[in-house]
Amino acid sequence: MDIEKVFHMVGGNGETSYAANSSLQKRAIDLVKHITTDSIVDLYLATTPQKMAIADLGCSSGKNTLSMIGEIIDAIDRARRKLMVTNKNTEIQVFLNDLPSNDFNSIFSAWPDFCREKLNSKCNGRNDRSQKPPFVCIAGVPGSFYGRLFPSDSLHFIHSSFGLHWLSRVPPAIYDENGKSINKGKIYISESSPPLVSEAYLMQFQEDFSLFLRSRSLELKSGGRMVLILLGRTDPHHTHSANSLLWELLSRSFAILVSQGDIDEEKLDSYEIHFYAPSKEEIEEEVRKEGSFAIDQFELFEVENNIDNAAGSTATYGTTVATTVRAIQESLIRLHFGEHIVDDLFGIYGRLIDEEKAKGEIKPVAFILSMRKKI
Ligand SMILES: C[S@@+](CC[C@H](N)C(=O)[O-])C[C@H]1O[C@@H](n2cnc3c(N)ncnc32)[C@H](O)[C@@H]1O
Repeated sequence: MDIEKVFHMVGGNGETSYAANSSLQKRAIDLVKHITTDSIVDLYLATTPQKMAIADLGCSSGKNTLSMIGEIIDAIDRARRKLMVTNKNTEIQVFLNDLPSNDFNSIFSAWPDFCREKLNSKCNGRNDRSQKPPFVCIAGVPGSFYGRLFPSDSLHFIHSSFGLHWLSRVPPAIYDENGKSINKGKIYISESSPPLVSEAYLMQFQEDFSLFLRSRSLELKSGGRMVLILLGRTDPHHTHSANSLLWELLSRSFAILVSQGDIDEEKLDSYEIHFYAPSKEEIEEEVRKEGSFAIDQFELFEVENNIDNAAGSTATYGTTVATTVRAIQESLIRLHFGEHIVDDLFGIYGRLIDEEKAKGEIKPVAFILSMRKKI
């Protein structure tokens, strides 16, 4: 399976869409948004560019995409006011990147209302007509962030949230000489996985992340900033993390469907996820080896697991996590196993998560890194 061709979040605004099932990511992004906005304000105050090019990599579709862009534009506007340069034109070009099968149309359909409500309300709030809001334009950039996306030396600021723990492919080293996975019955690194499996995942992360850094270092201007948010782990052992536990529970949900005769065992044996939760040290090592970036801030934070249900919803934590993972994984699961298992699989998955949570907290962790390109 060529993952970069087929992987996409569930598009549109329906019940199972990413737009309707990404509040856990939204809350995590909001928790650390001061780090993102401080970074862009700092950049603006240091360079006061008249034109700024900003990219959001792995933007997906739905409220998270445009709300982060709104925060960034607000932060730039605050910095302009601080410098009292709101009488001058500022032009902001926003590039939204994702894989080609992402639902870019939904973002573009939401753009006019976003502009009217978000950007104009800012202008309306001001009495002084001499104050000019920033002019903002938007463009979609389909393609993998594991490679070049933009002309050299063209970007001031790069943001990416919850995209970089997705690898470019399932690590080829987990397949034997007959093309069979050595990680039978599991979909990610698990207690029963041979040691080669975690080595293969780490190698793929190193290859991908170093290519990501190399590509961005060519595209960012000197002194340009980059803020990355990704899932990670604190323990050297891969299986001692909540992120691994959640994949283990999805493996068990698949196994239940195998035992019910709904899925062939071989189908499960040949399904692996292209995910990796790195440690802080593994990230730092790649940044050091690539050499173009200085890390200004590197924080670990817990992805909150208290859910505040939308009005009228009685969804449990398990259901919320299951629908979140479904919105992310459904495109690949449908292709590999067929559409018929998806509802049952995620029903079982939600129940297993609730059972596990009753035994103790499940607290996935994420990292936020704020970096600058060295001069
Ligand atoms: C979980 S979503 C995060 C979306 C949004 N940034 C947020 O924080 O809610 C991850 C996104 O990264 C995208 N993605 C994964 N691998 C990618 C790659 N190699 N190049 C570009 N986008 C990628 C996925 O298609 C998906 O839309």
